[in-house]
Amino acid sequence: MIGMQVAIDGPASAGKSTVAKLIAQKLGFTYIDTGAMYRACTFLARSHGLDYGDEAGILALVEQTGIELRNIAGQQHVLVGTRDISHEIRKPEISAKVSQVAALSGVRQKMVSLQRQMAGKVDVVMDGRDIGTTVLPDAQVKIFLVASARSRAQRRMLDLEEQGIKTTKTVAEIEADIAARDYKDSHRAISPLKKAVDAVEIDTTSMTIAEVVNKILRQIKKSQ
Ligand code: C5P
Repeated sequence: MIGMQVAIDGPASAGKSTVAKLIAQKLGFTYIDTGAMYRACTFLARSHGLDYGDEAGILALVEQTGIELRNIAGQQHVLVGTRDISHEIRKPEISAKVSQVAALSGVRQKMVSLQRQMAGKVDVVMDGRDIGTTVLPDAQVKIFLVASARSRAQRRMLDLEEQGIKTTKTVAEIEADIAARDYKDSHRAISPLKKAVDAVEIDTTSMTIAEVVNKILRQIKKSQ
């Protein structure tokens, strides 16, 4: 018997991780940020000077160091070996390359298997691009979050500021970066970003975080 599985997918900066974390906190579920895992693979490639298409090299590094999501004092941290890379993986240079790494079939296979293992039998809220379609196809609740490109760019700008990550880019340039990443994520051959047929779509453009969280909580309640 699997636990309760809540899958939250959608394009970049639609608010997935913010609401997923809050829902997990409220319900005492485990939160799994799958984007952080692809970002960790990209970080490993970059820090070892590997080509972002070097599937075998990246997989060997993942094997060697491991990728771990750890909850420390209520915050999710990402570790490779003993190194905490939670901050580094949010930097624009990682965001710019992550879609290339995430398109590698071997990397996806490995991450999906880790993600299913982490979900195991516990109650989870998992966010990403292919959770409802591929990773947890039997999830009881599937949400597809969308928002206008401009509002997503504004949110991304605020996120970067809050994390103390400097950028010289304008909102319009960030919007173009996000659009490029969404295009790559939606057009790759394996598990592209796509709404699952049984997912509920929520447009968060004019909604507050609390409104989105409550709407998803109602969906979860309905499915129980
Ligand atoms: O969610 P986040 O923006 O951190 O994800 C970073 C990237 O990781 C995405 O743009 C996508 O290329 C990849 N990703 C993926 N499948 C997932 C989660 C993220 O391909 N389930």
